[in-house]
Amino acid sequence: MLLVLNGPNLNRLGLREPQVYGSLTLEDLERQCEAWGAELSESVTCRQSNFEGQLLEWIHEAQEQGFTGIVINPGALTHYSYALRDAIAGQPLPVVEVHISNVDAREEFRHRSVTAAVCHGKISGLGFLGYRLAMEYLTEQVPVT
Ligand code: DQA
Repeated sequence: MLLVLNGPNLNRLGLREPQVYGSLTLEDLERQCEAWGAELSESVTCRQSNFEGQLLEWIHEAQEQGFTGIVINPGALTHYSYALRDAIAGQPLPVVEVHISNVDAREEFRHRSVTAAVCHGKISGLGFLGYRLAMEYLTEQVPVT
């Protein structure tokens, strides 16, 4: 049972910088993740928020809500949110960080992730497919009890 979280501005997929993020929408991404979940025999819940605190609360509650792993694209919070980092570090579920664009090929400030070090791993630059690969990895993980 996987939780897929998208952070600030990802509700603007399809509208924002299509040359960087493509023309598909958040809804397309979420439907795709649900379809991949079905292929992997995993139930998937997708949530998006532009509010840091909302993301923190979803992470805090994830284990008690029965999730077994979290895929997160924290958007720009990746680059500076120690609160998000602490929320990930402070809970036991495996977390994989995903970026649609190749953050290392972009502006300098995007090269730093303050969250990746407390995740099991980071996938960047593979478009929506990164979410699928993260889901596959988490499906292989033994649930934390
Ligand atoms: C992003 C990369 C971030 O640098 C940016 O702030 C985003 C999206 C990505 O998916 O490529 O909002 O996380």
